[in-house]
Amino acid sequence: MFDMAGDDTVQFGLGEPDFQPPKLAIKAFNLAMEQGKNKYTTTAGLPQLRQKIADEWSHLSPNLGQSNVCITMSGTNALLDVFLAIVNPGDNVLIPEPYFPLYPQHAVICGGEPNFYPCNFNNGFVPTIDDLESRINDNTVALLVNFPSNPTGATVSLSQRDDLVKFAKKHDLWIITDEVYDRIIYNEEHVSFLGAGHDKLFLINSFSKTFAMTGWRIGYVLSPDKDAMIEINKMQYYVTACSNDAMQYAVLEAMNNASDYPSKMCSEFKLRRDLICNRLNAMPGVSCHIPDGAFYVFPKVEVDGYNSEQLALAILEKGGVLCSPGTAFGEAGEGHLRFAYTLDKDGISKGMDRLEEVLSELRGE
Ligand SMILES: Cc1ncc(COP(=O)(O)O)c(C=O)c1O
Repeated sequence: MFDMAGDDTVQFGLGEPDFQPPKLAIKAFNLAMEQGKNKYTTTAGLPQLRQKIADEWSHLSPNLGQSNVCITMSGTNALLDVFLAIVNPGDNVLIPEPYFPLYPQHAVICGGEPNFYPCNFNNGFVPTIDDLESRINDNTVALLVNFPSNPTGATVSLSQRDDLVKFAKKHDLWIITDEVYDRIIYNEEHVSFLGAGHDKLFLINSFSKTFAMTGWRIGYVLSPDKDAMIEINKMQYYVTACSNDAMQYAVLEAMNNASDYPSKMCSEFKLRRDLICNRLNAMPGVSCHIPDGAFYVFPKVEVDGYNSEQLALAILEKGGVLCSPGTAFGEAGEGHLRFAYTLDKDGISKGMDRLEEVLSELRGE
């Protein structure tokens, strides 16, 4: 579909902020390279950066230090390290559906299997414990959670989080919590799974969304369990040996001196979220929740005779609007489309005008 998109296509496809990283981080990156930071680093990464990350999370888990953090080349790399560390052939991992498409494949790469649990529209895209209980079996080693979620934008309340933690604790599962959108939150504070009473946990994070650095490829794994972090460091060594040298100084600079950057970006995303949700909910046959995080909406869009893939194709071909079919995120995505509102408000309005027209044409109105 990306190949089919023309110059005039309105793009709601890609999950990356349309902002540039903080200028001071770019300067720090250049300076670090000029100063010779162009070498391998230790596998776990720059100690000052690891300490800074540990400090940022210490309000939830007080004893964190640099040995609780491993810098990786992106959240994707962080996820792979974690799967490699805990999944053996025959094991399965509870994975939310709809899901970020890498999760099931990471389980498969390790010889394991995804064990999907539903996050249904009717329950605000949050799972029920009954659904989880009905899926767990003797080979289940971990529960993966992703809030705010890609593709739904859903967040969890404290009590929903506590129920999920209780479930993981009861069955002695690892929690893999993907919190790469923790700084893109609209209403309440971000609800983390860290510090919720279960330290058998890996937190995945990345600077891709926080500082609009998707192309820089830098992220981290954090766990309160220091022994587990030794295993993560081994996996990181086998996967990429270490992360980027100069870039770690640039990220540290952003964390130290551009800490308000994500909230500024977030204010703009919130305006866009309101705009796109209002437009979508005003269209016949379309309904969406108002997401509290990330930069995605995952509306139900129903047109007789079209599944989500056919619908996304028709919207692209007839209307010049690129969105993702819900089934790109698993079968449970059938009947939905995903829109990433990573374009300005004029672009969103233009895209919504076109969408409205195509949908009424497809319905023969
Ligand atoms: C839920 C989720 N996790 C992880 C990632 C990976 O991010 P990155 O590899 O850029 O750090 C993404 C990227 O879109 C994502 O949406």
